[in-house]
Amino acid sequence: MNTLPLGPQPEPHEAGYSRQRAWVEVDAAAITRNAATLVEGLAPGSSLMAVVKADGYGHGAVPVAQAALAGGASCFGVATLAEGVQLRRAGIQAPVLVLGNLIHAEELRSCLRWQLMPTLSGMREALLCQNLAAAAGRPMAVHLKLDTGMARLGVDWHEGPRLVAAIRDLADVELAGVYSHLACADAPPDDDNGFTAQQLQRFESVLDSLRQQQLSAGCRHLANSAGTLRSRAVHYDMVRVGLALYGHSPAPHLRAAAALQPAMQLRARVSLIRTVEAGVGVSYGHRFRTSRRSRLAVVGIGYADGVPRQLSGQITVLHRGRAVPQVGAITMDQLILDASDAPELEVGSVVTLLGQEGDLQISPDDWSRRCGTIPWEILCGFKHRLPRLPLGAH
Ligand SMILES: Cc1ncc(COP(=O)(O)O)c(C=O)c1O
Repeated sequence: MNTLPLGPQPEPHEAGYSRQRAWVEVDAAAITRNAATLVEGLAPGSSLMAVVKADGYGHGAVPVAQAALAGGASCFGVATLAEGVQLRRAGIQAPVLVLGNLIHAEELRSCLRWQLMPTLSGMREALLCQNLAAAAGRPMAVHLKLDTGMARLGVDWHEGPRLVAAIRDLADVELAGVYSHLACADAPPDDDNGFTAQQLQRFESVLDSLRQQQLSAGCRHLANSAGTLRSRAVHYDMVRVGLALYGHSPAPHLRAAAALQPAMQLRARVSLIRTVEAGVGVSYGHRFRTSRRSRLAVVGIGYADGVPRQLSGQITVLHRGRAVPQVGAITMDQLILDASDAPELEVGSVVTLLGQEGDLQISPDDWSRRCGTIPWEILCGFKHRLPRLPLGAH
């Protein structure tokens, strides 16, 4: 006999349950609007690649990809094979470029099977692709990456023209694009020692040489969010945008370049309220001690969910237009608020850790500045213990 309680209602730990302890809320319409805003600002002839790696910067790769398509994105960038296959399995048919290096023949065979374009950084992988494509009897599209000054992936830019020629000689490999990546585009233009201009020059010099040899580069692309917002001169045929698509500026001086709308709200629920006397130590190490009789609220979210422990005692959460301070060490699964001045907060109340409530807003940038990281890392840090739900689901 089946003793499992099977039924139409989701269990309290499942995504469909309406009273989660903590969750990430994603505003798909904001992603669509951001994509449209970015497309509108592109240089003529350029198109938008939505970078949806790392599960769409923590927002959920598939809903983000669908929302970005609706806003005018024409292709996708992922970091890994698995991320590309996930898009295909969800029925997304637009071109997908794998930005990471795939080194094994099986990975490249999988690219061919799922019609994902690998990034090549040298001839070794190009030859693997040729062999696989010849064996399969169909061409394989690839992009070649040039290292113009990031010193990460890509062939040294001096080698670019030679490599393009060699790849173009491979019968079954289609060189669909040539690209590079900017290392310092988020620095104010006077502050990057001219390095972005130098990268641009190097990229241009490869393209010049290809023109002279009458070799097509295919789709040329160079800019990330910062490059895209900084200058149309780096838009080429396509831009690869991550952070800005999610509504955040890669640097304060670029904020005015586009009206973007944050797409993520991080919310959690109060699970306990207690009143303690003055002088009580709160949480591990008693890093906070109450200075008055205090009303403490325990919230069910912690560093195991992606709230950095370094933020202990440095953040507030929003509730009904009020900022409520977090106190004491953030623990693995909970954090504590001093709700003495927020009498309306009760067990079951929902607080906003990131996002907007009324006129108040807390951004990943606010957090990252306080704990010495970058907004990208904050967004990607939210673990899958937190369900991703559409905006307003709670
Ligand atoms: C090669 C490449 N292009 C584009 C991006 C998107 O960058 P951003 O999120 O700054 O727009 C990334 C992200 O790290 C990347 O690695």
